[in-house]
Amino acid sequence: MYLKLLPASLSPRVKALKVLAEPDLIRHHTRKWLLNSQSIGFVPTMGALHEGHLELVRQARKENDQVVVSIYVNPLQFGPQEDFSKYPRTLVADLALLEKEKVGLVFTPSDKEMYPEGFSTTVKVTGSLVKGLCAAYRPGHFDGVSTVVAKLLGAVYPTRLYLGQKDAQQAAMLRQMILDLDLGVETVICPIVREYDGLAMSSRNKRLTLEGRKIAPILYKALKVGKSVYELGEVETANVLSEIKKVIQEEKKVKLQYLEAVDSKTLAPVERIEKGTMLALAAFIDEVRLIDNIVI
Ligand code: PAJ
Repeated sequence: MYLKLLPASLSPRVKALKVLAEPDLIRHHTRKWLLNSQSIGFVPTMGALHEGHLELVRQARKENDQVVVSIYVNPLQFGPQEDFSKYPRTLVADLALLEKEKVGLVFTPSDKEMYPEGFSTTVKVTGSLVKGLCAAYRPGHFDGVSTVVAKLLGAVYPTRLYLGQKDAQQAAMLRQMILDLDLGVETVICPIVREYDGLAMSSRNKRLTLEGRKIAPILYKALKVGKSVYELGEVETANVLSEIKKVIQEEKKVKLQYLEAVDSKTLAPVERIEKGTMLALAAFIDEVRLIDNIVI
């Protein structure tokens, strides 16, 4: 249904956007485009859009005839102790941004549309890609992500899927899912967009206190120290990680959850740092979970 979720206060300009909640209606549009040999770039999001999301949209626009963005805070990928209810929801502002980017179609399904009564299928990627890093601390998270993205791809049927390197494990896992299930969608992974002070942009940054926001750039600063230590000749993983930890420990408010050095393709831990190694971390600041990574 058109404009189903839009509050009356929304400006008439934004109402020109096509905002659809039902998968069938999305499919109706995208099938027409495909029949006309138009390519479709798809950017799945959970909203609270920022420049990181918008860069994916711009890349999709450059490389495709049509762009579809989805906004859906997927309950399946949040654990019981996680921030599903506190996740920022800013639909009106999001739609205004997407309109500025000239996005043709926005998919905003509801829980009922995504997981109707009787819904019984889960897509689960297994193996080394979902062993370490975030997977070790967020049981079930990646099953929730793969299931929702498989459904979104089923509704949109895009030519290309645009994902961010900020969620490197998610991107690697989804690329594998697409290969394994022969979904025939090209995966495009875009670089991390950062704030002026180096903090990786994230919808969750909005939940930081003023003080938390001030110290949050230490995560990237620490990763860069790790890279410099390697460039100065240190290749032992344990030594490089220990230098990174020293920087993070300067800030008592930062609670490091994990810090790993992995192969950026397989995500398997490495004993020696080399070109292609990814240094990745997750940390809590003000109980907000932030992730970041850097590829050597
Ligand atoms: P969300 O966190 O909204 O992110 C949507 C996309 O934007 C992801 O591909 C993410 O990696 C990318 N992104 C976020 N911040 C970025 C940044 N600073 N630089 C570059 N890319 C960035 O990731 C999800 O939503 C969900 O798990 C989803 C895939 C939509 C499934 O529910």
